[in-house]
Amino acid sequence: MTQRVLTGITTTGTLHLGNYVGALRPAIVASRAPGVESFFFMADYHALIKCDEPDRIEASRLQIAATWIAAGLDTDRAVFYRQSDIPEIPELTWLLTCVTSKGQMNRAHAYKGAVDANLAAGEDPDAGITMGLYSYPILMAADILMFNAHRVPVGKDQVQHIEMARDVAQRFNHLFGQGREFFVLPEAEVEAEMELLPGLDGRKMSKSYDNVIPLFEGGAKALREAIARIVTDSKLPGEPKDPDSSHLVSIFDAFATPEQRAAFRAELRAGLAWGEAKQRLFDQIDSQIGPMRARYEELMAHPERIEEILQRGATKARAIAAPLLAELRHAVGLRPFQALQAKATPVVKAKSALPLFKQYREADGKFYFKLTAADGSLLLQSQAFEQGREAGQWVARLKKDGAAALATAPVQRAEGLAEAELLAALAALQADAA
Ligand code: TRP
Repeated sequence: MTQRVLTGITTTGTLHLGNYVGALRPAIVASRAPGVESFFFMADYHALIKCDEPDRIEASRLQIAATWIAAGLDTDRAVFYRQSDIPEIPELTWLLTCVTSKGQMNRAHAYKGAVDANLAAGEDPDAGITMGLYSYPILMAADILMFNAHRVPVGKDQVQHIEMARDVAQRFNHLFGQGREFFVLPEAEVEAEMELLPGLDGRKMSKSYDNVIPLFEGGAKALREAIARIVTDSKLPGEPKDPDSSHLVSIFDAFATPEQRAAFRAELRAGLAWGEAKQRLFDQIDSQIGPMRARYEELMAHPERIEEILQRGATKARAIAAPLLAELRHAVGLRPFQALQAKATPVVKAKSALPLFKQYREADGKFYFKLTAADGSLLLQSQAFEQGREAGQWVARLKKDGAAALATAPVQRAEGLAEAELLAALAALQADAA
């Protein structure tokens, strides 16, 4: 069976070298493996949780889309889309919201972190916390479950969200599946490498530490400038360096073959100057990133090409999402009335086998009713009424009281009508009304 691998990137900024090494590159490599179906998307609904600057959202989703493509994603093979182009995702989010316990959401790290920060600052616990932030794990569960992903590559901080997705999937399957498993239970896949790329100061490369090396933004110049700021020890040119205690070397490793790694280490031990080492590192990275950057700039100059790719991606994604959502809607009871009618048809038929009262108005302006048998033959014919309401009242009484109302009713029996047939017809109507 094919394995579905799915991951999303929240579109609030641009990507750095750590995102490339930790997320993009392994995802793209994995997407080429046989037996794997990949789903990669711009999590732009998630972006709205963190960011209320429309221009920034717009720029970021374009930049991140261009980055995936420039980095070598085969968009014919993978399903590559914007979350916000898939209306089935917010629909599924609601179905899942209705089976998610609030207590579990109270325990989500992102929400708890925000509450803790508020308490530490002496604020109301929920100050500044939106329902978007609070419910965010449910939206993420919908992202994953909508496509029945088996594996979800994420950073460590996201593992709890995958567990929540499993829980809600299980609950939904249990409540509505009637033995069917609508949802696959996804597994988090935390790449060891994902944690690995250090930033300028040696801590994990992250925007929040302000220690990042940009991937494409700012061109080769920005790459060179960032590399120049990598912190090293103060050993002079000619002094032997310890490669294994230097995060500059770890960054080099992420772009080098084993032979290149060994050669670089040997040079450092032999006294290579840090300035020279930074030049080697730049060359090493730029030999791989440079051609991608050229593609990136070309794409950014033609956003309509990216739009077209994403529209094709959305079509592919919706071809999977829409049929599943239709089943889920059905499972929870949101069913087209057409289907109900089809089910009810035999009952309607049985009903039409009953005798029938019919009220009508004649050319004389007066009101009448008649009773016909199931086969359409006439049983009773009323006199004329001045008011339609009177006719209606007699029909109601005959239906309710049957033969008991017959004695006083202003009606004539059809010629040759057997009394037993008339009484049976009235009894059938009475039983139906009861
Ligand atoms: N929340 C993830 C992050 O901040 C991004 C994301 C959104 C995601 N939906 C997803 C990742 C679904 C994996 C699967 O990194």
